[in-house]
Amino acid sequence: MTTSPAPPLHDALRVVMMPRDTNQYGTIFGGVVLSFIDQAAFIEARRHGHHRWVTASLDRVDFRAPVLVGDVVSFRTQSTRLGTSSITVRIVVESERYLTQEIVLVTEAAVTMVAVDAEGRPIPFRSASTVGISAR
Ligand SMILES: CC(C)(COP(=O)(O)OP(=O)(O)OC[C@H]1O[C@@H](n2cnc3c(N)ncnc32)[C@H](O)[C@@H]1OP(=O)(O)O)[C@@H](O)C(=O)NCCC(=O)NCCS
Repeated sequence: MTTSPAPPLHDALRVVMMPRDTNQYGTIFGGVVLSFIDQAAFIEARRHGHHRWVTASLDRVDFRAPVLVGDVVSFRTQSTRLGTSSITVRIVVESERYLTQEIVLVTEAAVTMVAVDAEGRPIPFRSASTVGISAR
C-alpha cells in the first residue's frame, strides 16, 4: 500500500502579542488568536487561486496552552482537503515564549474556506478567474 506524503506546512503569519490583546486574566484573548487563524487560512487559500475567499466554517479549534504577552506567535498552514470551491486548512499555532524562547504548541484549528465570485456565489477555485477583485 502506498501512502501520499503529508502536505507541507507553510509559514503564513508571525506576530508579537501586545498588552492590548489580553483578557481580564492577563493572558491573550482567544478571539485575537481566532482572528489571526482566520487570516492565516485566507493566506493559505490564496495559494490555490487569486479569488475572493470567504470563511465558511471554523471546523475545530483546540486551545492547548495560553498565549502570553510578548510571545512571538507563528501560524503555519496546511491544505488538508481540496474540494471544488472549498478547501480545508489546518492551522498550527506556536508561541515562542518571550522570556525563555521555548516553542510551545498553543492552538490547532481547521478552517474551511470557499472561493466566491463578486456576488458571493461559490466558484471552482481551480478556475483562473480573478473577477471581482479590486484593489480597494
Ligand atoms: C460559504 C458560502 C459562500 C457557501 O455558500 P452556499 O451557497 O451555501 O455553498 P454551496 O452549498 O454551494 O457549497 C459550496 C461549497 O462550500 C462548502 N460549504 C458550504 N457551507 C459550508 C460550511 N458551513 N462549512 C464547510 N463547508 C461549506 C460546500 O461543501 C461546497 O464545497 P465544494 O464546492 O468544495 O464541494 C455562504 O454560506 C456564505 O457566503 N457564507 C458567509 C461567508 C462569510 O461572510 N464569512 C465571513 C464571516 S464573518
